[in-house]
Amino acid sequence: MSGVEHPLVRLWARLARGEAVVAGVLSGTSADGIDVALLRFGVAGRPAPLAFGTRPFPEPLRVALRSALDGATLDARGMALLTRDLGRAFGATARTLADEHRLALDLVGSHGQTVYHHDGLEPSGGATLQLGDGDFVAAAAGALTVSDFRPADLALGGEGAPLSAALDPELFPDLARPALILNLGGIANVTYLAAEGAPLAFDTGPANALLDGLARLTLGQPFDRDGAAAARGRVAPALLTELLAHPFLDRAPPKSTGRDTFGQPYVAGVHARAEALGLPSDDLLATATELVAASVAQACERFLPARPRALVLCGGGARNRALAAALARRTGLPTSASDAHGLAAEAREATVFAHLAVRAVLHRPSTEPGLTGARHGGVLGKLSCPPIRETTPPQGPFP
Ligand SMILES: Nc1ncnc2c1ncn2[C@@H]1O[C@H](COP(=O)(O)OP(=O)(O)O)[C@@H](O)[C@H]1O
Ligand SMILES: [Mg+2]
Repeated sequence: MSGVEHPLVRLWARLARGEAVVAGVLSGTSADGIDVALLRFGVAGRPAPLAFGTRPFPEPLRVALRSALDGATLDARGMALLTRDLGRAFGATARTLADEHRLALDLVGSHGQTVYHHDGLEPSGGATLQLGDGDFVAAAAGALTVSDFRPADLALGGEGAPLSAALDPELFPDLARPALILNLGGIANVTYLAAEGAPLAFDTGPANALLDGLARLTLGQPFDRDGAAAARGRVAPALLTELLAHPFLDRAPPKSTGRDTFGQPYVAGVHARAEALGLPSDDLLATATELVAASVAQACERFLPARPRALVLCGGGARNRALAAALARRTGLPTSASDAHGLAAEAREATVFAHLAVRAVLHRPSTEPGLTGARHGGVLGKLSCPPIRETTPPQGPFP
């Protein structure tokens, strides 16, 4: 034996004492920046939130990522460089936030950047790819890292998404059931928290991937801040009806989707239809915002076992006032941002990956058939160790 304590043994001891500092880190489908949530965990009880921040990607990486997400072909070299550089950026960002708060990281849960996620129609079965290699995360963060959570769910027959739903019962313990949690990231996904029994979760369709794409094309801005353009515009009913006819919206759950269905080519198609109809940009943003709200409302009516008592919004889209208003109107449900229930709307996804990393190192399952369709009992994620700092020389023979 080398005499160096395994980092898992140290981590378990820190968890047992309720002292473990855990970072959840990710960039969502919007790729708007790197989110980091820091929490203090024990093996039981509610973890304490310590800090949250969203930091920009280093500029050359942001440019490379945006072009990859917008459809530029990535060869093997491009992929290798991107997964390395994203891993470094995720690890460094987690480390920086921890340093700023004078915290030593015990564990990082790193989701990575999704560059491909199946839409359920792949004839050979689902597949997913998140870039941001966990070994580079661990080296840059200087902490044990769990990464690449989704493939295990797929390997157990699941959709690989939405994973955050497994944590929603823990994240919203005090919410009156049934309740609907709606995450407004690049894609919109819901978790239905039933009065009794396991939650139900699925993607409802496009959200900010569409709204941001249109804002870039028509407003020359990264997003429609506060939904101001949408609020000025008028919904075009003919275009809305056309967009609501997308086959993904019709499919029953479990279902998940991503940029391959609702990414750049989809956005360009919606933009082209609006140009053909002569729609001003505000009306186009109003119509696309209405589509997001209508697709969620339609999913509520068709796919939920009972009417929720409340709609709770999280993700960056919770800050889009026009969208929040359209959701309240279309669903008829009392609607609030998750901040009102103890969790900052922006922090939910990163918080989830901190939780999932703790589950992984404690060998606790995170899959449920009702959530992603995976068999029960899957432990998600892959483990990467930080560099060993001790200089103990190797002592052979090894066992
Ligand atoms: N003030 C705001 N007004 C409108 N939209 C906003 C606002 N703040 C954030 N957003 C939206 O939220 C997105 C980021 O949301 P996020 O939850 O990080 O998505 P993802 O998980 O896909 O990265 C932005 O790209 C933007 O569309
Ligand atoms: Mg984001």
